[in-house]
Amino acid sequence: MSQPAPSLRALEHHDAFLERHIGPNEAEIAHMLDVIGQPSLDAMTDAIVPTSIRSADPLALPAPIDEHEALARIRGLAKKNQVFRSFIGQGYYGTRTPNVILRNILENPAWYTAYTPYQAEISQGRMEALINFQTMLSDLTGMDIANASLLDEGTAAAEAMTLAKRSAKSKSNVFFVSERVHPQTLEVLHTRADGLGIELRVGPDAEAAQADSFGVLLQYPDTFGQVHDHAALADAVHARGAVVAVAADLLALTLIRAPGEWGADIVVGNTQRFGVPFGFGGPHAGYMACRDAYKRSMPGRLIGVSIDAEGNPAYRLTLQTREQHIRREKATSNICTAQVLLAVMAGMYAVYHGPEGLKRIALRTHRLAAILAAALGRAGITVGPDFFDTLHVVDVDADAIHARAREAGINLRTIDSNSVGISLDETSSRDDVIALAQLFGATVDDIDALDAATANALPAGLLRTSDYLQHPVFNTHHSEHELLRYMRALADKDLAMDRTMIPLGSCTMKLNATAEMIPITWPEFANIHPLAPAGQTQGYRELIDGLEAMLAEITGYDAVSFQPNSGAQGEFAGLLAIRAYHQSRGEGHRDVCLIPESAHGTNPASAQMVGMRVVVVKCDRDGNVDVDDLRAQAEKHSDKLAALMVTYPSTHGVFEEAIVEICEIVHQHGGQVYTDGANMNALVGVARPGKWGSDVSHLNLHKTFCIPHGGGGPGVGPCAVKSHLAPFLPRAFGGEGKVGMVSAATHGSASILPISWMYIVMMGAAGLKRATQVALLNANYVAKRLEPHYPTLYTGRNGLVAHECILDLRPIKDATGISAEDVAKRLIDFGFHAPTLSFPVAGTLMVEPTESEALHELDRFIDAMIQIRDEIRAVEEGKLDREDNPLKNAPHTATMVTGSEWTHAYPRELAAFPLATLKRQKYWPPVSRVDNVHGDKNVMCSCIPIDAYREEEADA
Ligand SMILES: Cc1ncc(COP(=O)(O)O)c(C=O)c1O
Repeated sequence: MSQPAPSLRALEHHDAFLERHIGPNEAEIAHMLDVIGQPSLDAMTDAIVPTSIRSADPLALPAPIDEHEALARIRGLAKKNQVFRSFIGQGYYGTRTPNVILRNILENPAWYTAYTPYQAEISQGRMEALINFQTMLSDLTGMDIANASLLDEGTAAAEAMTLAKRSAKSKSNVFFVSERVHPQTLEVLHTRADGLGIELRVGPDAEAAQADSFGVLLQYPDTFGQVHDHAALADAVHARGAVVAVAADLLALTLIRAPGEWGADIVVGNTQRFGVPFGFGGPHAGYMACRDAYKRSMPGRLIGVSIDAEGNPAYRLTLQTREQHIRREKATSNICTAQVLLAVMAGMYAVYHGPEGLKRIALRTHRLAAILAAALGRAGITVGPDFFDTLHVVDVDADAIHARAREAGINLRTIDSNSVGISLDETSSRDDVIALAQLFGATVDDIDALDAATANALPAGLLRTSDYLQHPVFNTHHSEHELLRYMRALADKDLAMDRTMIPLGSCTMKLNATAEMIPITWPEFANIHPLAPAGQTQGYRELIDGLEAMLAEITGYDAVSFQPNSGAQGEFAGLLAIRAYHQSRGEGHRDVCLIPESAHGTNPASAQMVGMRVVVVKCDRDGNVDVDDLRAQAEKHSDKLAALMVTYPSTHGVFEEAIVEICEIVHQHGGQVYTDGANMNALVGVARPGKWGSDVSHLNLHKTFCIPHGGGGPGVGPCAVKSHLAPFLPRAFGGEGKVGMVSAATHGSASILPISWMYIVMMGAAGLKRATQVALLNANYVAKRLEPHYPTLYTGRNGLVAHECILDLRPIKDATGISAEDVAKRLIDFGFHAPTLSFPVAGTLMVEPTESEALHELDRFIDAMIQIRDEIRAVEEGKLDREDNPLKNAPHTATMVTGSEWTHAYPRELAAFPLATLKRQKYWPPVSRVDNVHGDKNVMCSCIPIDAYREEEADA
């Protein structure tokens, strides 16, 4: 008898996303539950998550859909955006992402799934790319040093303001801002200045010389396109002991004098037009370059050159002990996640084009602008003088021009009723010039003839004469093969999630699924200017509204702002909301922010930035908030209490039982509860902060909601609030609202929101809950299996952890001299990225496996950790030397283990292949242990001179 055919229904849904996202299958889950002694996922969840916060009902989200249907739906949303030719400018310009960079960096998981390069030895590739970025910036701006990177131009300008405040001789409290800076920059400056009590004075450039201020900010070329000679002004500002900050356009700097050549102390800006699409506002890499004297006060991450254990040049994050790290509650910058992926792209754009190519793009852009200006001039239309790429067209009927432009599928910049702005860029063409001229009733019959008759419009005295980008890296990889292989060689040096799990506690390095990534490069999302008229961005509107509704449901809050473009920015926005709420009730004097001692460094820094005073609350022996101390502090500061910032589950990886009581105590004393949502991956579908008493949270979409970490950004840190705080979310550009903008674009890094949208619609309510449960299971499985080898520092009730566990290496170090860092570096020999090192407790490793890791991968990691423990034991028992052992000397490079001499007291094989399986697949770190002390003593943050490469070759 033939078998009955399976039903159609049984055969459907073969492509459910859930099974692709979650690592372990049913059998593996059953096995792991067994290991941790729990009968089911639900029973395990009951045993871990306090009953007082458990959600009674499932999330009210639409049923999950598969990848193909989700892509079809989001395609429908994309189609509702209209891509016009954009000449809006105002800090954002059309650009062509070289296809080789698009596919091999932006769309390549080897780059986008990497983490911030804290573990230097496995991050040499992206740090080289970032050194290129920094070198490009210091060259073009004429400054000594540049960072990699900041969040956008507006926030970079705000960072310049606070850097100036920290560095200026002048004791004035005034920061003078040219009225000709981009308006969104001014908005962000107002928000930041307000929080820090800095007085912002805005006026014509000429007044900057007289104003008594600690610093000034100029725009070069200015927002209306004009290029000014600021040299005399800079001298006058310096004479008063104040600092000159300049927001500069990088493409213009290939043609005009570098700010560093005429007196700038700090230069900031956006690198977007170096190959990064508009994205409706972001993400793009902001930048800061400055004088060497300021380097120790500079915000953001800085890549530097040091040496490894064998004396070879090696990159590392340098001067890490700045701002948040040491100044903590005194810090005036909270930047953590930045825009690494976009910085890598911008740096590669410079590598691809080289100095000549960039100059050519700039000159061509300028020619098109000059020709357009000439055409308009012939038709009697006035255009401002001395421009690079932007024309300020005055004395016109702006409404009529905009209407005509829209009909032609063109967007111009709105300025006022009788002027418009037109910015040309790399993508502009002859046809564009003809079409633009026509909008004003001007005709261009023979563009070549007009070209021949038109002079350049850059001021003669400001033409650039100095060289830039002379380093070989910018002059070698110009053919596609060369660049392709260069990028591949760099990627091969690094460990990203396309090769191994990255079990970084507090970072939630989960799957960044391909289907989630696909929409972000569609032109309908990528090629929309942040100031495109609302009628053209209906698709974005629906996407953002939809995501807001889903996140509100998931968190239990009522409203969400997507403007913050990192978690730390979300904290800043949330605290601003709290401050404005207190002010609205006549309680503006409330300025005390209670923060547990275990908090992430961004928490106190953000509190400081909104003008709150940080009062530290103790933690008890189990890592929980010490409720007695909290109560005492809340009582002591009752009249002044503004907020408590608490991370939940705690940074110690446990669900504190007392969270509801904690919220009540704070509310009783008139404070608001801020829950840092970085650990939301332990909560989705299980508990909702907005329902247990919290008032506001930021989420890290680049953790829980699948936006890849990009090697250190981009991120999205939406700020979610209860309804009473909703009126105090950051306002839109040009919009109403009590609280100003926290980043330069209304919707922050809008073009990566499709990633989180896709994740949620493909998972559905049950899928999201299961992801949380498997994240808890995976962490507990790792903790349980490692228990006999490494003690877990903190556990919650029933001896279980949340979604991460802290392994305590301190007793091991005391007994053997082997430190957490040695273990982290030895893991590299096993092909692993280390867990989080020494946060939140020094001398520990925090492991967060996430739900996306399959049992096989967890076991591989556990086996490596056990093997390492055996090596430590061998040290303890004297079988391995205390100093000359594979842990202290890790990681081992191929050169080390294949050198003609081997002087170590253990075999080469143990160094390279501590597990037999590694013989089949081996990651070779490109450098051995990087010397941190050398790097901080000899700060060097641009490309290694070619001589150093030569020395290396000679040594080889
Ligand atoms: C607990 C916690 N809070 C806040 C942040 C800051 O987020 P971001 O790096 O996106 O600024 C982090 C980032 O690692 C974190 O772990």
